[in-house]
Amino acid sequence: MTSKPYVAVAEGVTKVFKNGKLEVQALRGIDLSIEAGDFVALVGPSGSGKTTLLNLLGALDQPTSGEVELVGQRLTKLGKAQRAKLRLGSLGFVFQAYNLVPVLTAAENVEFVLELQGVGKAQRRARALEVLGELGLAELADRRPNELSGGQQQRVAVARAVASRPKLVLADEPTANLDTDNAEQLMQAMETLHDEHGVTFVFSTHDPRVVAHASRVVRLVDGKITSDERREER
Ligand SMILES: Nc1ncnc2c1ncn2[C@@H]1O[C@H](COP(=O)(O)OP(=O)(O)OP(=O)(O)O)[C@@H](O)[C@H]1O
Ligand SMILES: [Mg+2]
Repeated sequence: MTSKPYVAVAEGVTKVFKNGKLEVQALRGIDLSIEAGDFVALVGPSGSGKTTLLNLLGALDQPTSGEVELVGQRLTKLGKAQRAKLRLGSLGFVFQAYNLVPVLTAAENVEFVLELQGVGKAQRRARALEVLGELGLAELADRRPNELSGGQQQRVAVARAVASRPKLVLADEPTANLDTDNAEQLMQAMETLHDEHGVTFVFSTHDPRVVAHASRVVRLVDGKITSDERREER
């Protein structure tokens, strides 16, 4: 597997979940290469395997067979601690339910990841405020999550995900809990981060308006990729 130009590669990936005697074939042979600078929408019906694939690309879970390579490292060759280190150093995550720490302010939520990475206090404060500013949240830096709207909380979550300049940001239905306006704002914020800072995103969604922002659309059906299209205009 040559990996240099790719931030993530899945090769022949399958995933089987076993619940007692019941086996679910969640992924049935996925080949997918994510390039630096990609802005990918992962679409497909409920149960088609989107979350499962994102979890594998994010080194949060392991394939039943096949190989996932992240920033040039084969995940099967890494132990649990090494995978955690890889996640912290190279990946950003955005979840459906924001997942901010309730007792921390917006800025502190963003700084938290930088602190784990060993970034000094002054530098992480500056970086947090810079990223929050880019997402239109400069005024809200000192508010706690319960003092923010859902849309604002999710933009803080995106700020947190990109603050450490990860190689790849994975977002599982980031707009699922947002109304149309907030979903649009979030997508525009992600698009700006992509266009101006080259942030690589892979996000899953059910919403055609969210898909419209993508420059590449990967469609999953029954655990298989049925189409993978690049688009020039959006
Ligand atoms: N931990 C698990 N144990 C057993 N089965 C699972 C588990 N996680 C997922 N599955 C099954 O694997 C298949 C793919 O699920 P997945 O969550 O990846 O789909 P999805 O495309 O994200 O769906 P949705 O759009 O509803 O979020 C489904 O049949 C699901 O029931
Ligand atoms: Mg899902």
